[in-house]
Amino acid sequence: MIDLHSHILAFLDDGAEDIVTSIAMARIAVADGITHMACTPHIVPGKYENSTATILPAMHSLQVMLDAQSIPLRLTSGADVHIAPDLLDRLQAGDIPTLNHTRYFLLEPPHEILPPRLEEFAARLLEAGFVPIITHPERLSWAGRHFDVIQRLADLGCPLQLTADSLTGVFGPVARQLSERILREGRASFFASDAHGASWRKPVLSGAFALVAEQFGRQDAEQMFHHRPAAILSNAEPAEILPTLRTVSRGRARKSFAQRLVARVLGNE
Ligand SMILES: [Fe+2]
Repeated sequence: MIDLHSHILAFLDDGAEDIVTSIAMARIAVADGITHMACTPHIVPGKYENSTATILPAMHSLQVMLDAQSIPLRLTSGADVHIAPDLLDRLQAGDIPTLNHTRYFLLEPPHEILPPRLEEFAARLLEAGFVPIITHPERLSWAGRHFDVIQRLADLGCPLQLTADSLTGVFGPVARQLSERILREGRASFFASDAHGASWRKPVLSGAFALVAEQFGRQDAEQMFHHRPAAILSNAEPAEILPTLRTVSRGRARKSFAQRLVARVLGNE
């Protein structure tokens, strides 16, 4: 499995508190079946002033330590980015690291308040060639009241990243129910751990993988825990990341008018 959201790097945010914790997190991830992990510290203006200059050296240094201890976890760069007026400028300048230097990056909307014009903001980023991945929509306190915004962001082309611990119930019943709804509607692109430590909020995906495999089939679980995250790391086209492929492959997608017309002409409908 591939985990594209983690706070494994020490000293940069509220994640790993020291290097010992970082290494313990890596061991937990490997034991859980995770082979690749994106290091995605918070970038929050005024609180966590991270950038490419702080994240990449920390990632390389942790990779050296993991290699020295023969811990088979490949790290890559990224960030967990809050909304800010200069976000696009910083992405274009390379000051904010995208996931493995691709067009994809993690965008964390405010937890307590739905920001005005969030969809316009996302649309501007998409027009500029970046693809904002909306992190853990199921854990945003406004997501239930404004679920239409989450749906429209997904329909706009923003992949939705669910948290493994939300589906297993660690974040409570509301986050679990919203995860299940996003999954049922076929709008979830992939899962990640959003791990912050080695004793709580650990880098573990296997429990959620099992639940998705049980409810939707192993093929869908592999899409959401391996294939789509791998496609993101290789900068694949958004069509490979967005979950329409999953719904189409399961035959549950609503056909377009043109598709229905063709099917009718061919006598298939
Ligand atoms: Fe995070």
